[in-house]
Amino acid sequence: MSSSAPVAVFDSGVGGLSVAREIRALLPAENLLYIADSAFCPYGARPTEEVRARSVAIGRYLESRGAKLLVVACNTASGAALEVLREALTIPVVGLEPAVKPAVRTTRNGRVGVLATEGTLRSERFARLVRDYADGVEVVAQPGLGLVELVEEGEFSGERVRATLDPVLRSLREREVDTVVLGCTHYPFLHEALAEALGPEVTLLDSAPAIARQTRRVLEERGLLAEEGAEGWVRMLTTGDPAEEEPVMARLWPEPVRAEGVTVQAPSDQPPS
Ligand code: DGL
Repeated sequence: MSSSAPVAVFDSGVGGLSVAREIRALLPAENLLYIADSAFCPYGARPTEEVRARSVAIGRYLESRGAKLLVVACNTASGAALEVLREALTIPVVGLEPAVKPAVRTTRNGRVGVLATEGTLRSERFARLVRDYADGVEVVAQPGLGLVELVEEGEFSGERVRATLDPVLRSLREREVDTVVLGCTHYPFLHEALAEALGPEVTLLDSAPAIARQTRRVLEERGLLAEEGAEGWVRMLTTGDPAEEEPVMARLWPEPVRAEGVTVQAPSDQPPS
């Protein structure tokens, strides 16, 4: 495996760009191959089996395109498929989990909220995380219904955002949590709106910087870090319509973006009717 091979970053949609931008900032010499499985976005309410099949198909596709490491920049896909992906692929796989451990260290009043997709919150990995690390802290799990759709449509502020956040944040307000985990990679793009709605006394936590550091650690351990001083390229792929995806990607990425359409078939995909 050559160190100039790309690091692949995968999400159901544009949310994983919140992780990719941290990797880009920390490791500018790395080539990045980003893929949004936009044709199947959102993953959050899909059955676990389907998310697993899509994740494995995407992982195999990225490996076949020469990726040296896969970052699953999606909590839902990590919850459904991380172990299976590690078995199915020969390249190292870095996954995500909601930042429950840092939240338990951060909370002052012993109450934390976790905003994530339904898929993440019902996963065995999430149950294990709470069981093993909550350490007496109350964890209020709340599905972020409608939030992924806002980000995919490029809406980050305004009336529709406030109206969508209102019912989602109700239980977190009622329980008076002082720390909220952004347990879906789409949500950091709503950071401002969430901070405004929850108020300054609530701390928001995002795993993306930690994932970038973990990516660097794994590359280092395997001797796969790109040559220092190199200027890495970035390529954006989507299984959806590139003409629709490109403008949203461009708003979320600090450099000029071109989206390339690709087809990735999983055995379980329903043929179009
Ligand atoms: N961004 C993803 C996550 O971190 C998936 C959101 C979705 O497709 O529902 O969970």
